[in-house]
Amino acid sequence: MTQLSRFLYGGDYNPEQWPEDTWANDIQVFKQAHLNSATINVFSWALLEQREGEYDFSKLDKIVKELSDANFDIVLATATAAMPAWMFKKYPDVARVDYQGRRHVFGQRHNFCSNSKNYQVLASKLVKKIVSRYYKNSHIKVWHVNNEYGGNCYCDNCQNAFRDWLKYKYKNLETLNKAWNMNVWGHRIYDWDEIVVPNELGDAWGAEGTETIVSALSLDYLRFQSESLLKLFKMEKAIIKKYDPVALVTTNFHALPNKLLDYQKWAKEQDIISYDSYPSYNMPTYQSAFLYDLMRSLKHQPFMLMESTPAQVNWQPYSPLKRPGQMAATELQAVAHGADTVQFFQLKQAIGGSEKFHSAVISHSQRTDTRVFKEVTELGEKLEKTGSTILGSKTKAKVGIVFDWNNFWSYEYIDGITQDLDYVESILDYYKQFYKRNIPTDIISVDDDFSQYDLVVAPVLYMIKSGLAEKIDQYVKKGGNFVASYLSGIVNENDSVYLGGYPGPLKDVLGIWVEESDAVIPGQKITVSLDNNNYQANLICDLLHLEGAHALGNYNSEFYKETPAVSENKWGKGTSWYIGTQLDEAGLSKIFDHLISIVNIKSLVETKTDLEITKRVTKSGKELYFVLNMSNDTKDLPSEFDAYKNLFTDKSANKKMKAWEVQLLSKL
Ligand code: GLA
Ligand code: ZN
Repeated sequence: MTQLSRFLYGGDYNPEQWPEDTWANDIQVFKQAHLNSATINVFSWALLEQREGEYDFSKLDKIVKELSDANFDIVLATATAAMPAWMFKKYPDVARVDYQGRRHVFGQRHNFCSNSKNYQVLASKLVKKIVSRYYKNSHIKVWHVNNEYGGNCYCDNCQNAFRDWLKYKYKNLETLNKAWNMNVWGHRIYDWDEIVVPNELGDAWGAEGTETIVSALSLDYLRFQSESLLKLFKMEKAIIKKYDPVALVTTNFHALPNKLLDYQKWAKEQDIISYDSYPSYNMPTYQSAFLYDLMRSLKHQPFMLMESTPAQVNWQPYSPLKRPGQMAATELQAVAHGADTVQFFQLKQAIGGSEKFHSAVISHSQRTDTRVFKEVTELGEKLEKTGSTILGSKTKAKVGIVFDWNNFWSYEYIDGITQDLDYVESILDYYKQFYKRNIPTDIISVDDDFSQYDLVVAPVLYMIKSGLAEKIDQYVKKGGNFVASYLSGIVNENDSVYLGGYPGPLKDVLGIWVEESDAVIPGQKITVSLDNNNYQANLICDLLHLEGAHALGNYNSEFYKETPAVSENKWGKGTSWYIGTQLDEAGLSKIFDHLISIVNIKSLVETKTDLEITKRVTKSGKELYFVLNMSNDTKDLPSEFDAYKNLFTDKSANKKMKAWEVQLLSKL
């Protein structure tokens, strides 16, 4: 089974924070809101194992029973994310050492060391106890491993494990010294035990993950840490699968996205992707759409929206109230982009601890006549009505945008001509071009099959691992269309520069080479002329030579005035483009208008609209259009949908869409 058996509506429930005689009422209230699922046991280790080896499942037994009796689907967590105090006391090495070299003490959560044998043994024992106790319960549909993995450790155990990892990877020190270019600054090493973790006092300077001296070393450390945490996940998963081969196993991904974990590698180990989404009040809607598209594309399957907030969070700088309707719109945006669940953090608002002002389905008022509760209930009605239709439906995209964790890391490690490099922002510039045109887009890895896309866009593909340039070359030769940008094709997987001119191994397919790159100072006016209009160039201006390609636009400033900034190249049966600067949005739009017409990629509707529109197709071929008004204004529904029915209301489509209104449209 790779799919849920019903559309889940629920979220994190922490009954252990409440007297037992309140649970039954809570569950009744959840039912009133049409919830059908609860995630439990996320942070219960200290309750389950009060002293080493002494387990007490009495509370969890009761919770599981009450939820099962109420026919709730249970997402059961393995409780390994927050370690009990006794563990820190007895086994200090379970705690992570941070980038500054300080060892954690009891207090936070998510702060275990992935290479601590003690942690591994204690966590395995706990998971085995939990799984062997509950696996026969058919209400448990999903195993929720740990919680929001992330965070690097720089302890001695990690250092030893890193040396072993490097020995396995490089075999001998000669190869390692060469790969890491260790003659620079006299860093050559002669013994494996001379390798130390790249913490703030070691290889790195500045904030974690941003500045390094031997970037290849720091990069390997990021790869190693991501793999170390993944090993922990796999350790738990193996225990679960031994008992329960049926229920889905996942861990909740998070952040924008999380830089430390190579989610494309992690995705292979997940039965289903799950994601915690907390867009801030000022996050543009294309950014949340991007994150959902990324999550869906990790397995090219629907994903779980494992966490989201029914109203405010307590940890962003400002959490204004969600306007009437806004909560449902933000939840349904995830569904529109491929989610098969809507789950909240949290179902009942805590009275203490750091999250007491984090909203919940049952708020401090403990009343059901509140605005938020009513909106949660209305959304529940809609999902109850349409969930079985939506469940498992797929998104079909003809455009793939490359997002690659090795590039995320190496690009932001660049000590280069500008300090303003932001990998996610650079990708988002391009994503927005498709989002605003309502063109379905997958966010793909460099290892995905490009041939399924009419257009592959790979912004700032700074690092080209071996085989990738040939793959791109073949893709275009066979008729694919490929877009590259500034700062691409510069280094190999060890962060060593390709000689012979930038963009290294992409020069032929792009039909250009870059001789020099200028840094644009914020506020500096450098323009690019496209069809006699001028557009602002930012960040970097590549000075290109055309070698087969022709120019689509030239710079209109500086000593490189009238030299090409944007180029187009016919290559085999396909075409490639190079965009040598960070163009402003209007300039990029101009290029993409041209490019989209050449590649002949269609928007979901022809009418120009500010509404967000996505399409999911059910197994039986039924087309479901999600039309979202992600704004505070009224907007007109495109006339293409005149003969459509809104599955949320069973009425014909609403022609004027209110602020935050969402329609799920299907042909009459
Ligand atoms: C994360 C965690 C939850 C909770 C929420 C609050 O996503 O996984 O346990 O702390 O944040 O927004
Ligand atoms: Zn460690």
